[in-house]
Amino acid sequence: MITELNVEHLALLIALERHAQSGTSDAQMLAALGSQDSCVLGWWQDELLLGYAIVARLPFEAELQAIGVHPEQRRSGAGRALMDAVLATARGWLSERLLLEVRVGNLSAIRLYQRCGFSEDGRRKGYYPPQGSLSATPQGAVGREDALLMSQLL
Ligand SMILES: CC(C)(COP(=O)(O)OP(=O)(O)OC[C@H]1O[C@@H](n2cnc3c(N)ncnc32)[C@H](O)[C@@H]1OP(=O)(O)O)[C@@H](O)C(=O)NCCC(=O)NCCS
Repeated sequence: MITELNVEHLALLIALERHAQSGTSDAQMLAALGSQDSCVLGWWQDELLLGYAIVARLPFEAELQAIGVHPEQRRSGAGRALMDAVLATARGWLSERLLLEVRVGNLSAIRLYQRCGFSEDGRRKGYYPPQGSLSATPQGAVGREDALLMSQLL
């Protein structure tokens, strides 16, 4: 089951992210849960929150900001179901495109996005800090990873 989450789900979401490791900070989750221009979707199984996605509404487009599934639930269709719900949300907003960016080395996420109809638009060199760090800045440095920019028309 997929539902929209609200601020009352913050503690559950933070606990899930500790396992899912999609790179979202507690502050980013709180901001998304409280924003009218974001939608946080939760994937539940047996009343446990085991997956989530965050999509933000931009003036003409929508952006997938995070998607994460508990490691023990991966490869069972949760990511795809969440992406379908993200696409439906963005279509409901009448967004023209759904955008996302992902580390070039995150092959499981890239495969999911390709499966869900995204194609590559370009790259940002050295966009991400080394794995494990939360901030993303455009400055280049050793160990940084390129961002793959992907989108699909809605
Ligand atoms: C990316 C992620 C959300 C996928 O979730 P998931 O529930 O495992 O995805 P699904 O089971 O719906 O998989 C859908 C398709 O994606 C592709 N895919 C997903 N994981 C894959 C993997 N490890 N290797 C290859 N393909 C993969 C496959 O095509 C899969 O279809 P299939 O199982 O029929 O072959 C999950 O791996 C995750 O939480 N990763 C850590 C967080 C993260 O990196 N998020 C993205 C950046 S915000």
